[in-house]
Amino acid sequence: MAEKTWVRMVTAQTPTNIAVIKYWGKRDETLILPVNDSISVTLDPAHLCTITTVAVSPSFDQDRMWLNGKEISLSGGRYQNCLREIRARACEVEDKEKGIKIAKNDWEKLHVHVASYNNFPTAAGLASSAAGFACLVFALAKLMKAKEDNCELSAIARQGSGSACRSLFGGFVKWIMGKAEDGSDSLAVQLVDEKHWDELVIIIAVVSSRQKETSSTTGMRDSVETSLLLQHRAKEVVPKRIKQMEEAIKNRDFGSFAQLTCADSNQFHAVCLDTCPPIFYMNDTSHRIISCVEKWNCSEGTPQVAYTFDAGPNAVLIAHNRKAATQLIQKLLFCFPPSSDADLNSYVIGDKSILKDAG
Ligand code: DP6
Repeated sequence: MAEKTWVRMVTAQTPTNIAVIKYWGKRDETLILPVNDSISVTLDPAHLCTITTVAVSPSFDQDRMWLNGKEISLSGGRYQNCLREIRARACEVEDKEKGIKIAKNDWEKLHVHVASYNNFPTAAGLASSAAGFACLVFALAKLMKAKEDNCELSAIARQGSGSACRSLFGGFVKWIMGKAEDGSDSLAVQLVDEKHWDELVIIIAVVSSRQKETSSTTGMRDSVETSLLLQHRAKEVVPKRIKQMEEAIKNRDFGSFAQLTCADSNQFHAVCLDTCPPIFYMNDTSHRIISCVEKWNCSEGTPQVAYTFDAGPNAVLIAHNRKAATQLIQKLLFCFPPSSDADLNSYVIGDKSILKDAG
């Protein structure tokens, strides 16, 4: 007769985050330690998020993972680092109803299965790895009853993907680069929660959902090796900007917030151009969106919308309030009519709206 077995499962949902002061460049590639602090805003989980289920059972004979229904290899160092770090913090688990008893030491021998879904395009410059690794680490920590708080978990998620450490909190989040060689002080802290500045509306204009040609990891490695502008940015520019951004967020000063966000996005893409060989993440449509926003902000006298672009052509637009968001959508629809050949299409979803692409 087959031995009675059990499965213990945990599901978690984690939103993605968008940096308003960018992380670009590592000082340690293995531990994923950045060359500068960064600040992000966490998106509404209803729209861009990862949902991950992790399961453990004595009947599993190896660790396995499926991403959007397709099996992927867990052999990469980043997955292994996250798994190892959480396993090292696993605690005893007992569920009498289901007949489950896992001693602290058993976790070393037990295998996990992971199923993860992104409700948005993967690797299209919409920070899919951020939500993905944050969700994986969070779900594993719950499965193994690790006692670490989200700050401590962020230092583990960081070893999966740098930007992931910022997705363990809502609101505005700062990733402190830290000084320690072992990376123990390179972690995320929440600056303010999501209620602090809830009139902001975030709109994502999906210019293309295709996977990017140069991954962030490769791109930032090339920038560290070849861009002098990156050195200047990390040492001279970002430390001042971080302080100014923290002030702007604390005081809900949209004018300063927008100016800093746009300037930092533009400098990040300037670093990409200063890299050898140069990296082009934005395309003509991205540039047209920037011009449209700049013209409008200029004509209003005070900024109504901030734009920022990650490692891809898609625009993340942060509107001051609902009125500005409505006007922005009207302007975008005027500049990029859905029926035209422009490669930007327009469905508006929910409160924090997303303009989705057609194909
Ligand atoms: C442009 O976190 O994807 O989105 O640490 O190598 O996994 P790895 O890179 P990743 O880089 C994100 C870069 C960025 C800016 C940001 O999110 O701060």
